Amino acid sequence: MSNNVVPAVRHFLSDKVEHFTESVIRDMTRQALLHGAVNLAQGFPDFPAPDEIKRAAQQAIAADVNQYAITWGSKNLRQAIARQMQQWQGISVDPETQITVCCGSTEAMISTLLAVCNRGDEVVVLEPFYENYGPDAILSGAKPVFVKLRPPQDADGEWAFDERELRAAFHPHTKAVILNTPNNPTGKVFSRPELELIRDLCVEFDVLAITDEIYEHIIYDGTKHISPASLEGMAERTVTINGMSKTYSVTGWRVGWAVAPPEITNAIRKVHDFLTVGAPAPMQEAGAAALSLPPTYYQTLAEKYAARRDRLMPALTEAGFSCFRPRGAYYVMTDISSFGFDNDLEFTQYLVKEIGVAAVPGSSFYNDPRDGAHQVRFAFCKRDETLDEAARRLKKLSTTR
Ligand SMILES: Cc1ncc(COP(=O)(O)O)c(C=O)c1O
Repeated sequence: MSNNVVPAVRHFLSDKVEHFTESVIRDMTRQALLHGAVNLAQGFPDFPAPDEIKRAAQQAIAADVNQYAITWGSKNLRQAIARQMQQWQGISVDPETQITVCCGSTEAMISTLLAVCNRGDEVVVLEPFYENYGPDAILSGAKPVFVKLRPPQDADGEWAFDERELRAAFHPHTKAVILNTPNNPTGKVFSRPELELIRDLCVEFDVLAITDEIYEHIIYDGTKHISPASLEGMAERTVTINGMSKTYSVTGWRVGWAVAPPEITNAIRKVHDFLTVGAPAPMQEAGAAALSLPPTYYQTLAEKYAARRDRLMPALTEAGFSCFRPRGAYYVMTDISSFGFDNDLEFTQYLVKEIGVAAVPGSSFYNDPRDGAHQVRFAFCKRDETLDEAARRLKKLSTTR
């Protein structure tokens, strides 16, 4: 056999991976490290997690909670999740048959899509969207159908979908709609009338709602988060996805969950078991402690994030960005038209290399990159010092224009 034969490596690859790129958000973090930039790209806090929950994790390890948990999640955590859903959203769920604890809400989403989608099923996704949903749909064999959320006309307005466009995206072969409220990247929190409209379409076309509610507790200006599963007629056709990452500032712990009717849960549990067996056992115990924190914890969390938002937004405006004011989650989507760059990629490269601030190019949140060519997202889940340093660097931008 000749040693010179170079295998055609592409021959070994799945077609699926040809259809998406590595995460732009996570790449921007690597670039921030490379260029010594302040990282306002990826949504992870640079401040400590609450002491109580760190202690709970330490105690769990000391008590030898070091082996596989039950594949669909430790009983303590599932009971805490059920209690919280009842307390916050008035949703009754059976922790024995309706909850699957996963390695982050990321795994909960892909396990759900793998569990419900057949090749060619359509999944409606509102865009701009959290970038994982695109590859998630492709990996599960589904075809994403995008519907636009249009930016508000003024700084205080709301991102909104057009009712006719949304209706036109629903077909007899639509399997699911993915909703993310509070929304990354826009900061939109879906209103009751909007959710009722989506509910009516789901019922009419017999469609499942898969709702990513990871920013449930990060809301501003008196806005209320409404869990779609709490709407009449939705409990039986909703998979609610949530996790510890954002609410408890522990994105590296990798604990999330999917809550669904029992039959759907059975299917999700099967996929989850063979993908990962289970989420980290000691972190699940810490999760049970976290979900038992008093209501004041959540109030303070939201207040602190509101203060961070109000610290970053004026700095962005002063530097020349047009900001869309978020009602929830911890990002500011901005319009960069005033800077005169050809597109968001060129701009974010300039920002990370010359100004020393990493942000996420808007195109990574759209199916057609041209739709996000004048948008850039900043994360404000950072210490005051970090936000102030970013503000100081961004001042250079207003003088270089
Ligand atoms: C909308 C949304 N869903 C899910 C995730 C990931 O969550 P997890 O850490 O639970 O996998 C993120 C992280 O940025 C997000 O913004």
